[in-house]
Amino acid sequence: MAVGIFDSGLGGLTVLDAVAKRLPDVPFVYFGDNKHAPYGVRDADDVYDLTTAAVSRLWDEGCDLVILACNTASAAALRRMQESWIPSDKRVLGVFVPLIEALTERQWGDNSPPREVAVKHVALFATPATVRSRAFQRELAFRAIGVDVEAQACGGLVDAIEEGDMILAEALVRSHVDALKRKMPEPQAAILGCTHYPLMQDAFQAALGPEVTVYSQANLVAESLADYLERHPGMLGQGDKTRFLTTGNPRKVSDQATHFLRRQVEFESA
Ligand code: DGL
Repeated sequence: MAVGIFDSGLGGLTVLDAVAKRLPDVPFVYFGDNKHAPYGVRDADDVYDLTTAAVSRLWDEGCDLVILACNTASAAALRRMQESWIPSDKRVLGVFVPLIEALTERQWGDNSPPREVAVKHVALFATPATVRSRAFQRELAFRAIGVDVEAQACGGLVDAIEEGDMILAEALVRSHVDALKRKMPEPQAAILGCTHYPLMQDAFQAALGPEVTVYSQANLVAESLADYLERHPGMLGQGDKTRFLTTGNPRKVSDQATHFLRRQVEFESA
């Protein structure tokens, strides 16, 4: 009864950590495509090909339900996958939905017309591919009116995190926040629209200032998944043990994952 969690690399571990705490009895199979990270600088076809290969691998592990714990894949590939690729007995869910639900204080199934929400000025920090897709703004526009979104593509940040170079990562956070503030001097809320970025949440909060509410996805996704599994218990697949798979170097990835999660994590070759 395992659920698959996919990311291009280490970022999805922020989601894995939250879902594993929220659903301690559910085994999860994590797939990090570290060999091909970052996805954020790739084009949509490339992201689609890599994401479908990874999701197929998770289906082989008995995970009928796979969470794309990757905004870049959710933005650049998920719609195309849902339209023509996913068989009817499998599900693939992205990470935008819970975030937009939280920001707009409404439920996904709520199809009433878009309405005004409390937050008016939102800063979105994401990868270049996610920003280019405008997927976040499109989904938000279905639900809310009068929200001004300023997006900042945070080039280089995922590479620095994947390499474990936290000094460079902090410097990049400061410079991307500065660039955002030149376009939107007083954001009320900031969305960390890449699952790697919660690993730098303190640096984002410090650069943005205490008055800015920083939304990150992990806990929001965990709550949504718990709710989804309650409504669809049949989507727990056949897999029965938690595993960590990587296309990268298992030793190096295990060391970085152990450091980020502050507990021993052992990756195997995918
Ligand atoms: N962590 C991913 C995301 O949420 C992907 C980052 C990347 O590979 O560029 O967008």
